[in-house]
Amino acid sequence: MEQSALRKRRRALMKKIGDGIAIVATAPEQTRNNDVLFPFRPDSDFYYLTGFAEPAAAAVFAPGRAEGEFLLFCRASDAKAETWDGRRAGLDGACGTYAADQAFAIGDLEKMLPLLLENRAKIFYNIGRHPSLDALIPATVAALRARVRAGVKAPVDLSDIGAILHEMRLVKSADELRAMERAAAVTVAAHTEAMRSCAPGMMEYQVQAEVECVFRKHGATAAYPSIVAGGANACILHYTANNCELRGGDLLLVDAGAEVDCYAADITRTIPVNGTFTPAQKDVVDIVLAARDAAIGELRPGAAVNRYHETAVRVLARGLLDLKLLRGSVDRVVDSGAYKKFYMHRTGHWLGMDVHDVGAYKVDGAWRTLRPGMVLTVEPGLYLFGGDVPAGLRGTGVRMEDDVLVTKSGNQVLTQAAPSTPAAVEEMMAR
Ligand code: GLY
Ligand code: MN
Ligand code: MN
Repeated sequence: MEQSALRKRRRALMKKIGDGIAIVATAPEQTRNNDVLFPFRPDSDFYYLTGFAEPAAAAVFAPGRAEGEFLLFCRASDAKAETWDGRRAGLDGACGTYAADQAFAIGDLEKMLPLLLENRAKIFYNIGRHPSLDALIPATVAALRARVRAGVKAPVDLSDIGAILHEMRLVKSADELRAMERAAAVTVAAHTEAMRSCAPGMMEYQVQAEVECVFRKHGATAAYPSIVAGGANACILHYTANNCELRGGDLLLVDAGAEVDCYAADITRTIPVNGTFTPAQKDVVDIVLAARDAAIGELRPGAAVNRYHETAVRVLARGLLDLKLLRGSVDRVVDSGAYKKFYMHRTGHWLGMDVHDVGAYKVDGAWRTLRPGMVLTVEPGLYLFGGDVPAGLRGTGVRMEDDVLVTKSGNQVLTQAAPSTPAAVEEMMAR
C-alpha cells in the first residue's frame, strides 16, 4: 500500500479521536506445534493504518503530541535473530520505511504507556482483541488514577476503536479497490483452473492444490481455508476436510478466495465433476443463479443492505416450490421460514481486508443503506439433504458467490469473469 494512502488514513483517524489517544496492536507469532509457528498474517486494523507486516507490534496515535503523533512499537533489530528467522525493519525502518514519528522496542510499551495516557480523556483500542492490551490498558489507567493528587489526569473513557476504524474500512478507497480487483482476478484464474483440471477420480485436495497453486503463482495466499466439496459434502457449509474422491455424476462446490496485500476475494462456483450437468443439477443451478442475479440487481446506493438477501430468498423459495421440495406459496414459505431447511445462511457479507469484513450492518437499529465504495459478496445457495429429498436431488449442494462493488450508478461485479452458467462452465471444462 502506498505511504500516501496510509498517511491519509492515519490523519482521518486522528481527526476523529480528537484529544484522545488510540492504540492498535498486531499479535505476536503463534505456536503451531513444538517450535513451529503458524504463518504470520498481520491484524487487519493495524495493517490498514501502518502497512507494517511484522508480528509483535503496536501503533500509538496521539494527536497533538509535540514529540510525534504516530509512534510505532516493534521488534528491535537483532542480527542473531534475523539470521535465523528473517529480516526486521527495526526502529530505523519503522521511522524510515513506515514513516513513524518515533519508534520504540515493543518491550518498552508498558513502560511508556503511563506517560502517553496521562492527561488524555479518552482511550480508543480494540476491546477484547489482544489479551495483553486488555490487561495493560485498564491497569495503566488504574495506576494513573492513583496519582491524581499529584495533578495527573487519568483517562475516564475506554472506547472501542472499531466504531471509528471499521466505518472507515467499510468504504473502500481507490487504492484498496485496486488490491481487491487483483484479488478477484487471481481468484477468477484459480477457479478457472479448477474447472479445467477437475476430473472423476481426483481427490478434493488435488483440486484444492490447483486452486492454491494459482494463488501462490501470483504472490497471493488463501484468504480463508478453501472449501472443495464433492457430492453431498457441498451441503456442509464450512467443509474443509477436502479429503474425498470426486465421482463422475456428482457436483463439486469450490469456495476459495485469494488474499492480495491483505485484501480478500471470495468466490464460489459449483461445477459438474465430469464436465456435464445432469438436467436435475442444471435445474438447481439455474435457480441459484437466478437468485444471484436478482440479488445483484438490488445493490445500488441508497438500497438497504438486507434487501438483496430478501430478494434472493424469494427467488430460492419459488425454486423450492417448483422443485416440489416445499409446498404452499412463496409468501408462506418465506414468512414461515420453511426455506431455511435448504438455505440456512444469509446471502452475503461485507468483503475487504477480512473475508467477513468489519462494519455494522445496522445503524441505530435500522438496516444501513449502501454507499459507493462498499463491497459485498452475493452468495445464494441450496443444500438439498435429508431423507425427504427425492433420491435424484438428495445430496445436491449448490452455491454461487460473487464479489460486488457498489458504484455511483449501481454496482460492478468484480468476479464476473469466473464462468458460472451451466453453458459457460461446461465450455470451460471441455477445453
Ligand atoms: N468463504 C466464506 C464465505 O463464503 O462466507
Ligand atoms: Mn462469502
Ligand atoms: Mn465464500
